[in-house]
Amino acid sequence: MPRSAIPRVTLPNGITVPQLGQGTWRMGESPRTRRAEVEALQLGIELGMTLIDTAEMYGSGGAEEVVGEAIDGCRENIYLVSKVLPENATRSGTIAACEWSLARLGCDYIDLYLLHWRGGIKLAETVAAFQALMGEGLIRSWGVSNFDVDDMEDLVDVTGGDAAVTDQILYNLQRRSIEKSLMPWVQERGIPLMAYSPIEQGRLLRDPALNSVAARIKATPAQVALAWTLRRKDLIVIPKASSLQHVKENRAALEIELSASDLAALDRAFPPPDGPKPLEFL
Ligand SMILES: NC(=O)c1ccc[n+]([C@@H]2O[C@H](COP(=O)([O-])OP(=O)(O)OC[C@H]3O[C@@H](n4cnc5c(N)ncnc54)[C@H](OP(=O)(O)O)[C@@H]3O)[C@@H](O)[C@H]2O)c1
Repeated sequence: MPRSAIPRVTLPNGITVPQLGQGTWRMGESPRTRRAEVEALQLGIELGMTLIDTAEMYGSGGAEEVVGEAIDGCRENIYLVSKVLPENATRSGTIAACEWSLARLGCDYIDLYLLHWRGGIKLAETVAAFQALMGEGLIRSWGVSNFDVDDMEDLVDVTGGDAAVTDQILYNLQRRSIEKSLMPWVQERGIPLMAYSPIEQGRLLRDPALNSVAARIKATPAQVALAWTLRRKDLIVIPKASSLQHVKENRAALEIELSASDLAALDRAFPPPDGPKPLEFL
């Protein structure tokens, strides 16, 4: 079992959250796997991964129900993140979506509510809805997801748009495009990113270079991929695991420190971008 505490990342509103959390995409899709999913999330919570990311989209609400069951009795220890779909993100639609999410989660409030990706609805309208939800105490903060630099610039131009506390985006060894574009943009403004699909939904795990570093340091490829993202201390990382073994492995990834030669080997296999590049999506 890992011994050291999970490092924390400070959001622009001063709240600190664990750097390593838990994702829930593909949970809540089948009653057959529900118990295992609840138990995996509960083990993760015991191990300190108390930031849980979900969305109204996942399992058409089923993932929020799984999360609700997993956090029943320990809500105050959890930093709960959920998301509104772009097509629901009008002023009244966002409020209704949030109320439905809260009902499925069995909670009175969401800690961080995100716009899942940018759609056709004006950002000013969604921001106004987020402000209203904060006023009612139904959410404690808000942010965005899948926003590139141009979207972030449009957002901060909107009244109140500079209150976003994170941008949740795709980032892993294979998806480094933002290192010279979105990453410096948010760093300058003190907005931490939240990295989703940190092991590329498992597709990274067969890579020979990753496997060779993992074998050398006696870790698993997933742990090396996670340790590589966690090396950036201002990045929140949210792997999804529905097996107890994966949850334990992921928590233990925080104990791994990659050496300069490990990092150089990974850079050779997964080169950083040679200049500003657009954000990638899944
Ligand atoms: N904002 C967005 O648009 C967006 C998009 C994608 C994802 N997300 C969020 O980010 C979270 C993470 O991303 P993701 O689910 O796409 O992908 P991911 O975390 O990169 O990969 C999840 C997959 O990897 C497996 N896995 C986990 N730990 C492992 C380990 N130690 N060894 C081997 N396999 C392991 C899981 O298997 P088991 O489940 O069998 O353990 C699952 O199949 C999501 O769940 C979601 O909350 C957000």
